[in-house]
Amino acid sequence: MDREIQELAEKINNPLGKFNNNELKYVLEYLDSENSENDSNPWTARFEDAFAEKYGVKYAIAHNSGTSTLHSCLHAAGVGAGDEVIGPIQTGIWFAFVCLQQNAVPVYVDSDPDTFNMDINKIEEKITERTKVIMPNHLHGTPTEMAKIMALADKYNLLVIEDCAQSFLAKCDGKLTGTIGDMASFSFETKKHITTGQGGMVITNDEKLATEVRKHAGLGYTTLTAKQGMTSLMPHQFQNPNFKRHDTLAYNYRMPEICAVLGLAQLEVLDSKVQRRIEIAKMFEEALRGIDWIVPQKIPANSTSAYWTYTVKYLGEEKLGVTWEQFYKRYNENGGDGFFGGLALQHKETVMEKKPFFGTYTPSDYPAFTKGFDYSEEQWPVAEKIQPLLMQFKTGYRDMKKAQNAVVALSKTIKDFEKTRGDI
Ligand SMILES: Cc1ncc(COP(=O)(O)O)c(C=O)c1O
Repeated sequence: MDREIQELAEKINNPLGKFNNNELKYVLEYLDSENSENDSNPWTARFEDAFAEKYGVKYAIAHNSGTSTLHSCLHAAGVGAGDEVIGPIQTGIWFAFVCLQQNAVPVYVDSDPDTFNMDINKIEEKITERTKVIMPNHLHGTPTEMAKIMALADKYNLLVIEDCAQSFLAKCDGKLTGTIGDMASFSFETKKHITTGQGGMVITNDEKLATEVRKHAGLGYTTLTAKQGMTSLMPHQFQNPNFKRHDTLAYNYRMPEICAVLGLAQLEVLDSKVQRRIEIAKMFEEALRGIDWIVPQKIPANSTSAYWTYTVKYLGEEKLGVTWEQFYKRYNENGGDGFFGGLALQHKETVMEKKPFFGTYTPSDYPAFTKGFDYSEEQWPVAEKIQPLLMQFKTGYRDMKKAQNAVVALSKTIKDFEKTRGDI
């Protein structure tokens, strides 16, 4: 048994391991701490404090996912029946879901053709008297330009929730993404820059919002505060049968303690993990130098990307007559290990086409619900055009040799098809 554990520990701690920092040590400490009769463990609070410190903000509230975080933020922002939330058409379905779960309407904005993020010049036309929140996403790790969004929020008295699930340590105008809006959400799902298996974090400097977020994620306990996980009451108070615990309709979105243990160790090496993805992105960038039919995501001026993926717009069909699928196939034949396309636009997902939530998540007095959402494609011509062209290359390699292989496969594939250029 002992030898087995020893061998496992060595495997976990190998230089290419996913959890080769202090994860194992902290997990063992955590398991040992459970031997204590005192069941108030400090791990989630430690992770929250460390995360808040890393981002230089007052409050961090751990969650069980980067979707539940967004939901808690909307609750804290006071978003309710018939309210509108403005966000990108090109993001995952979590955006629509958390709006609908608050009985609110997701209002989509077209994409910028170069950054692939929400087009900041098309936001204002979507603002109505029902708008409560703007929720930009820093897609693929690259910041949405926040200055204009913050100015609009100021002008129309809206709150801004940044979705930073893919943008750990990315910067916009010198500021970390997540520290610019009123609240920000992070995901620690397994493929993110750092992971707790599943998990998420909300950060904010606003005490009232932090309190509401924590209550939403923690069964609405009356005693929860912006900072405090549970209660500072004396046992004779909360053990009393007359003690009333809950004053808010809420969910249990709490992060499991064991996940916070992993998060704490992962956070210690966040910088190097982000840096490695940036280095890998630079390798892909080098392979594309001088190629006019594969166009990398534009990084806005005064911004840095966290390169969650290295994302490009593929113009090979238009310029060379080679389809996305043909390129994908050849890339794999040349030793590549696949790449993702752009996420299907939200309104094309089956759930949004069939809308099974009508009648349950629908305020009866709001026309956008009773008539159905207006999802006519003319509203987002850019997103419709570029979504099928996107290619997302993996940057999360821990083994640089594998990253190098992927880059070589890309170069080879480009060369193969460049040869055919004169033929069309
Ligand atoms: C930008 C973005 N927002 C939100 C989420 C949802 O996070 P989770 O999977 O942790 O719920 C994800 C991804 O998973 C994401 O990439």
